[in-house]
This record gives sequence, structure tokens and C-alpha cells, in this order.
Amino acid sequence: MPNQPDVMEKLVSLAKRRGFIFQSSEIYGGTGSVWDYGPLGVELKRNLQERWWNAMVRSRGDIEGLDSAILMHPRVWEASGHVSGFVDPLVDCRNCKKRFRADDPKMKGTPGTPDAQCPACGMKGTLGEARQFNLMFRTFMGPAEDSASVVYLRPETAQGTYVNFLNVQQSTRQRIPFGIAQIGKAFRNEITPGNFIFRTREFEQMEMQFFVEPGTDMEWFEYWKGERMAWHRGLGLAEDRLKFHQHTSDELAHYARAAFDVQFDFGGSLGFQEIEGIHNRGDFDLTQHQKFSGKKLEYFEQGANKRFVPFVVETAVGPNRTLLALLVNAYREENVAGETEGRTVLGLHPALAPVKAGVFPLVKKDGMPEMAKKIADALRPSFSVFYDDSGAIGRRYRRQDEVGTPFCITVDGESAAGNSVTVRERDTLQQQRVSIDAVASFISERIAT
Ligand code: GAP
Repeated sequence: MPNQPDVMEKLVSLAKRRGFIFQSSEIYGGTGSVWDYGPLGVELKRNLQERWWNAMVRSRGDIEGLDSAILMHPRVWEASGHVSGFVDPLVDCRNCKKRFRADDPKMKGTPGTPDAQCPACGMKGTLGEARQFNLMFRTFMGPAEDSASVVYLRPETAQGTYVNFLNVQQSTRQRIPFGIAQIGKAFRNEITPGNFIFRTREFEQMEMQFFVEPGTDMEWFEYWKGERMAWHRGLGLAEDRLKFHQHTSDELAHYARAAFDVQFDFGGSLGFQEIEGIHNRGDFDLTQHQKFSGKKLEYFEQGANKRFVPFVVETAVGPNRTLLALLVNAYREENVAGETEGRTVLGLHPALAPVKAGVFPLVKKDGMPEMAKKIADALRPSFSVFYDDSGAIGRRYRRQDEVGTPFCITVDGESAAGNSVTVRERDTLQQQRVSIDAVASFISERIAT
């Protein structure tokens, strides 16, 4: 029995209604498992990405940033093993024309045999034999659509980092151990995408490759496991919804010597699932690129006068999937003492919340709207605010609770004389009077963590 409730359906509806996430090309019936981020979704995703960039790049002296291209030389993907190894076994049903992963637990019998039963239409004997299906999207570069012009949409950002290893190391004069981090799009032609933005065909990754001396790799692997789990906790993800999963030898990717996933409990039947992978990739990738490009990718350690191919410890997290974890973790419905109507709250970490403060005039008269607009304009350069003067004040609070806004500032009858406003806190519902001059610092201090 799942411990955590299944809130996915409610979230999909809230995300659309309030402008977090829309289905791609919706007016044409939608594109399979591709999603667009609306005004609040893009703010939330950017806040998450900035938090990662600050933790992984800006606040450290030993990690450099990079933004490599999506399209790369096709040999990159031969060297990396993705052309031959990035495959899932796929089964077609001749009757309903649907496709499944051969390891789909809902499938009965062995595909290709008369007793095998299609998990969608229930027909027996219509499933073909399993065949290997490459998950990379292929396209053509330039006007000729022939085998010489095939390129791939990258399935991970990591390879762009490996081929730039020496460019970054030599231009920054970093010494091992050091890392290279990047945020960017990745594409996988997933056979079974779904669960909203959990598994999609176009997504983003925030990946960091840490280059270390061989022999020190497992020490760094443990270090990064600790750092990354602490980062997820710092997002406000509940302690009991986070755990590590160690890959068995059957699960290990073709490049990995050791791997741990950070898993989050999404609730319902989805339960614990990977949000980040931490991998010890050894010297697999750099050695492969040396072989295929014919160029040395060695590090020269001056003091010791020695050359070696570094080992790599990788941390790879998806902002889309982590954003879903944030929404699931934050969603709650509750009763409010003394009120008949309950409320829906997104208890997002204030630093991640897409809107930091709602600004309201209590009523639309007596100069209150003008004063509230002035306050909103003064706060805008510091953080995102939302001005709202429509409907009862209670409804305006509820609308902000539902999108996770941590503070609501209200201009009321005392504001003009006392040069002050009330600030209501989302989770405690407590209100306090704050001088207008102090509102910006009051909120900044509370969202800075
Ligand atoms: N470079 C290593 C690598 O790509 P991965 O475990 O395949 O490792 C890392 O991917 C992270 O990227 C995952 O933990 C997940 O958060 C995200 N991710 C992978 N495939 C995804 C998909 N189809 N949709 C959304 N996110 C995905």
C-alpha cells in the first residue's frame, strides 16, 4: 500500500488552470509527452535551475560552467556507446498497433509466442518478438538526407562536457580534482513516457562531471552522494520521501562502475522513483573519445610530471522531474480554523516559489489601490510580485496560497496614516504590521535561505 497520497491528477489540473504547465500544441490535440511551461512554471523552473547553478558553480572554486551545443559530431555517439547501447527492447502488437517495452510488467507470456497477451487490447498471439529500439532522435544536418548527414539530438548533456574537457581545463587552468557543470536540453524517444512531466521525450538536465585522479574516485563518489542528497533536502523535499537506491550490476548503465539514484516518493502507484543519478563513470568516456577522435584527452600534472586520463564522478539531475517532485511534495488541502471553506496550498520553499509576494488593496477605494500599486512597483526589481485587486480579500489570499506565494501584503485603512501594511505568511496564516520602508527587507530575509 502506498504511504503517500496520489495527487498527480489534481496537480495536472492545478498546473494548467494556474499557468504552470500546458500540454504542447494543445490546440492540435497535443504532442505526445511534451510539455510547455507557463508563466508560473517557467519562474519555478528558473528558480530551481539558479539554485543548482549557485550551489554547483558560483559558490565553488572547483567547478566551471559550460553551455555546449545540442547537435554534436555523430561520432561522439558512437564513441559514447549510445548508437549501439542506448536501446530498449520493444514489442509491437499487430492487433491494436500499440508499442510496449518488452519488460512491461503488465505483459503476460513471452512476446513472439502464441500465449503472449497484449497489455492494451488483451488479444493473445498478436505480440511480435522483442526488438532493440534506439532512444536517440535522429535528424539530418544540411540539405542532403543521407547516411553521411545523420545527426542526433543529444540524449544527455554529459558528452558535450567530455569533448570540451581540455578546452575548459586549459582555458581556466583548473587542476584536478575539478568539475564542469551545465544545464541544457536533452531528448529521448522514450517508449513509455508519461506520468505528466516525469518521463518526457524533451526535457532538461543539470549535469556535473567531476574529474579526479584514478584511485580517488570512490572517495569523491561518496562525497558527491552526500552533497547531492543535502541539496535535495535543502529544496524542502520531505526527509521521509527521499532515499538512495544503489544500482545492481544488471541496472548499471554501460559507462558506469558504480551508481546510486536519489529517489523521491511521488506517492500513489508511482512511489519512489529516480530524480538524480550519481555515477562513477571511470575513464570510460574520455578513453572512448581519445580512441574515436585520435586526440589525447590526458591531464598533465605539473608537480609530479605525469600524465593520466582522469576518472569522472557524475551528478545528473532533471529539473523537470525535480519540479514535479517539488509540486507533489508541496501540495496540500487543509481546513482553516474558523472558516467553512478549506484551502489548497503549495507549501513551496520561499526561495523557489514563483511569486514571492501578492500585493493587495483591502478595498478598491480611499487611495488604497494607488498605494498598493506603488508598493508592488517598488518591490518588482527585487523579486516577483503579483498585484491583485479583484474579489474578496479572502479569495485573493486563497489564489496565492494555491500557487505557493509565501507572503501577501495588504494595504488597509491604517496604511496611509501609519505608513504600514499587513504581511500575511502563507503557512502560519499569521499577519503582522510592517512599515512600508521595511517590507522589502522583511521579505528578502525570509526568502534568502
Ligand atoms: N548523463 C547521465 C544521465 O543522463 P540519467 O539517469 O539517464 O543519467 C539523469 O538521467 C536525470 O535526467 C534523471 O535522474 C532524471 O531526473 C532526468 N531524466 C532522464 N530521462 C528523463 C525523461 N525522459 N524525462 C524527464 N527527465 C528525465
